[in-house]
Amino acid sequence: MADTGKTAKLSFGDTELDLPIYSPTAGPDVIDIRRLYADAGVFTYDPGFTSTASCDSTITFIDGNKGELLHRGYPIDQLAEKSHFLEVCFLLLYGELPKAAELEDFEARVTNHTMLHEQMMNFFRGFRRDAHPMAIMTGVVGAMSAFYHDSTDINDPWQREVASIRMIAKLPTIAAMAYKYSVGQPFVYPRNDLDYASNFLRMCFAVPAEDYIVDPILSRAMDRIFTLHADHEQNASTSTVRLAGSSGANPFACIAAGIACLWGPAHGGANQACLEMLQEIGTVDRIPEYIARAKDKDDPFRLMGFGHRVYKNFDPRATVMKKSADEVLDLLGVENNPTLQVAKELEKEALADPYFADKKLFPNVDFYSGIILEAMGFPTSMFTPIFALSRTVGWISQWKEMIADPQNKIGRPRQLYQGETFRDYVDVEDR
Ligand code: SDX
Repeated sequence: MADTGKTAKLSFGDTELDLPIYSPTAGPDVIDIRRLYADAGVFTYDPGFTSTASCDSTITFIDGNKGELLHRGYPIDQLAEKSHFLEVCFLLLYGELPKAAELEDFEARVTNHTMLHEQMMNFFRGFRRDAHPMAIMTGVVGAMSAFYHDSTDINDPWQREVASIRMIAKLPTIAAMAYKYSVGQPFVYPRNDLDYASNFLRMCFAVPAEDYIVDPILSRAMDRIFTLHADHEQNASTSTVRLAGSSGANPFACIAAGIACLWGPAHGGANQACLEMLQEIGTVDRIPEYIARAKDKDDPFRLMGFGHRVYKNFDPRATVMKKSADEVLDLLGVENNPTLQVAKELEKEALADPYFADKKLFPNVDFYSGIILEAMGFPTSMFTPIFALSRTVGWISQWKEMIADPQNKIGRPRQLYQGETFRDYVDVEDR
C-alpha cells in the first residue's frame, strides 16, 4: 500500500495522535490504527467490521457504489462471459491469466486430484440420510486433515500448493457424494475425461442403471455459477478462513471453518432461503404482503437474496445470474417458470419502493441463483454446498496470501466490556 505521508489527527482529552494514512490502488484510503492502544490506551469500536480493513490484499476488489467486482483487475462480467472456472481459479491463485500451457498443466493437476481417499466414504455412512449436505461437507472437509497429512504443513510452500489443488479438486466430489447420500443413490466417481463442471453434474445426476450424457447447456451454466461465486474479498466466510489460518491451523480445518460460516442464511445460506421464500410467496399477487413484512420493523422477515454490506448499487453477479436464468430456463424449455416470474416481479416492485431504494437494497448473487439450480435439478439443500465448492478457491487464495504475508499475525480483536467489574465470590449459603 502507498504511504501517503499524510496523517489523520486524532485528539481527545490530553491525547493528540497523528495516524498514518495509506492509499490503495483502488478504494478508500485507510487509517493505520495499529499503535492506537499502545500510544493512547483506547480501542476502536466497529461490530461487524463495517469500516475496518482487516488485511492487505491484491486478489479481489469491489466498488459497491459502482457495482464493480474485479478479480486481479478483471471484471466479473467479462470473466463470466469469456473465461471458465478453472481459468478463474488459476487467476485467483497465481495473479495472472494463464498461458495455454499453464492452463493445460493446471487443469491436469486438478483433474488428477478429484478422487477422494476411499476410506473417507465411511464418514458419509455415519451421517443420517436426512443430514443437511452442508453439515456433511463441514465434517468431511475438516476430516481431510486426518487423511492428507502430507499437505498440512503450512510452512512448506509445496504442501500449501498441494493442499490447495486437493481442495479445489475434491470439493465437487464431496458435495456430489453428500447429495447422492441424501437421495440414497450410489456414489459416482469422477472421470478424468470430463471438464470440472461436467464432472460435477455427472457425479450428482448419473446412476449406474444408464449412461449419463452431460448437457452442454447445463455444464456451461454450472461453470458460470462456479465463476460467479469464486471470491468476494473479505466477506464473513473468507474472514473466518483468514482468522482460523492466522492461528496456524491446517488448510483443511480453515476451509471447514469457512464452510460452516457460509452456511448462515445471512451469507451463503441465502440462496436456499431465497428460493424457499419465492416458493412461499408462490404467486405475484402475494408480493405486496411480503414487501410490507420486509419493511415492518417489528417483523424479523427480510427479503432473502436482497441487500448487501458492500453493494449499494446493483450486484454485478446478480445481473449476470439473471441473464443466465433467462437463457438456461429458455434452453431447458422451462416455460414461464412461476418462481422466476415471482422473482422478476418482486425485484421490480421492491426496487420501485422507497424503502429499498433509500436503504440501497438490490438483488444480490443469491437472488437468481436458486432458480437456475432448481431448474438444473438440484434440491434447495444443495444450493449452499454449490456456493461452498465454488468459493473454496477464493478462500484458499486469500489464505495463501495471508500465510505468505510477512505481517501475518494471529487475529485477536478486543471488545467494549459492559459486564460486572471485580467482585468477590459469595458462598452459596450467603447468596
Ligand atoms: C452473501 O459479504 C459478502 O460479500 C457476501 C457475499 C459473498 O459473495 O461472499 O456477497 C454473499 O452473503 C450475499 C448476501 C446474502 N444474504 C441475504 O440475501 C440475506 C438478506 N440480506 C440481509 O440480511 C442483509 O442485507 C445483509 C446481511 C446481506 C447485509 O446486512 P448489513 O450490511 O449488515 O445491513 P443491515 O442489516 O445493517 O441493513 C441495513 C438496513 C436495515 O434497516 P435499518 O435498521 O437501517 O432500518 O437495511 C435493512 C435492515 O433492516 N435491510 C433489509 C434487508 N437487508 C437489509 N430489509 C429488508 N430485506 C432485506 N433483505
